Amino acid sequence: MVVSLVDETMAHADERTVFSAPPAALSDEQSQLEPFDWYERMRRTAPVQYDDQLNRWHLFRYEDVATVLRDHERFTADISSTDIDLVDGDPFETPGTTSSMLRTAPPDHSRRRTFAAPRFQPGAIAEHRAEFDAIATDLLDSIEPNSTVELIDAFTHPFPVTVIASLLGLPPVKHDQFREWSLATTSLSPTDAAAARSAREEMRAYFSKLVRERADGDGDDLISLAASNDALSHEETITFCTTILVAGNVTTVNLITSALWCFAEFDLFEAVRSGAIDRETVIEEVLRYRSPAQSVRRVTTEPVTLGGTQIDANELLVAYIGAANRDPARFEDPEAFKPERTPNPHLTFGGGVHFCLGAQLARLETAIAIERLLDRFSVIEPDCSSLRPQSLVYGVQEFPCYLAL
Ligand code: HEM
Repeated sequence: MVVSLVDETMAHADERTVFSAPPAALSDEQSQLEPFDWYERMRRTAPVQYDDQLNRWHLFRYEDVATVLRDHERFTADISSTDIDLVDGDPFETPGTTSSMLRTAPPDHSRRRTFAAPRFQPGAIAEHRAEFDAIATDLLDSIEPNSTVELIDAFTHPFPVTVIASLLGLPPVKHDQFREWSLATTSLSPTDAAAARSAREEMRAYFSKLVRERADGDGDDLISLAASNDALSHEETITFCTTILVAGNVTTVNLITSALWCFAEFDLFEAVRSGAIDRETVIEEVLRYRSPAQSVRRVTTEPVTLGGTQIDANELLVAYIGAANRDPARFEDPEAFKPERTPNPHLTFGGGVHFCLGAQLARLETAIAIERLLDRFSVIEPDCSSLRPQSLVYGVQEFPCYLAL
């Protein structure tokens, strides 16, 4: 099943450059699910590699990935001036509308981001702790203990969606709809392209109405903040909202499930529960070891040299965060999960001007999710065998979990 989807993606790539198509090396199911062997081989043997099937460069070493992330002048996230067609490939973009802050270069980028940045600072996020805690507790209250539940459906998805919805000021009734939209827009399968397009259109129509309603209001929510900001056009305001909803969703679900997966695999539940292992430190190691976002894309604005290899201007680069995070040149014993690893300079939230706006939010949500689950259940036994078959977002796809009081 997975193989045939990938094959179709590849066939598609002959006709036009599909922005997020997986490379041929990941076309067999197992490597696509667990790309770490491929990363290891490439870091050693071909750290800067041109892929003539997909017409792009793949980068694997920490140093090169960090350079690309931090130097927005030579490596731009804005691909509008190139002939790269990201129509069905980028979960954050809707063809025919304004691009998101993720695909906007400075100085315009700062107009799209700065007004909201104070809301995502650690102090501002921490003020919501009690509210987020109550959301988590509420969701756990509806789980039947001493049974096996699909934890993504029951908790790890609705929790971040409800948190984001509450920060945006959205009515709670729509949460299932938000999940459908996020899943449809982050699918990499070309067969789902039509569904992704219609999900994006529905989502934009929904936000368009709310933005108009709140343009003159003085509400404290993020939609009101964006809608009353004269520096943003109506389309830009809608894009801000859809970006926050999608960006804050699938990645965080994967961080929470990956944390539980690591605790199960390395037998750490008791040490985390008792406080013998510091929760914040172990979450950073989960971020490094199983980065929910495996790669970012950039375009060269001028000829550059990376790892001794010359690359022309206007070339598409795929920088593998997941490979950088396991580079032995930067991390001691990188293939080992070390719950107390410090320092831990992983690149999971990116770097430079596009550094993840929601990094602190994701960290706090994950800390709360783990605390509440561990407080509530003495036994947590997840089945972590169903991985998500794609190269942009990494994590489990289904997460049946036995939970006992
Ligand atoms: C574990 C969870 C998360 C991970 C791994 C993650 C990862 C990332 C990465 C790698 C980037 C940079 C992309 C690039 O440079 O091309 C990014 C940007 C961004 N993230 Fe996150 N993210 C997470 C959670 C969140 C949350 C909860 C929000 C909610 C607000 C969010 C909002 C954003 C936004 C708005 C950007 C674009 C920033 C810009 O372009 O200036 N993210 N994220």
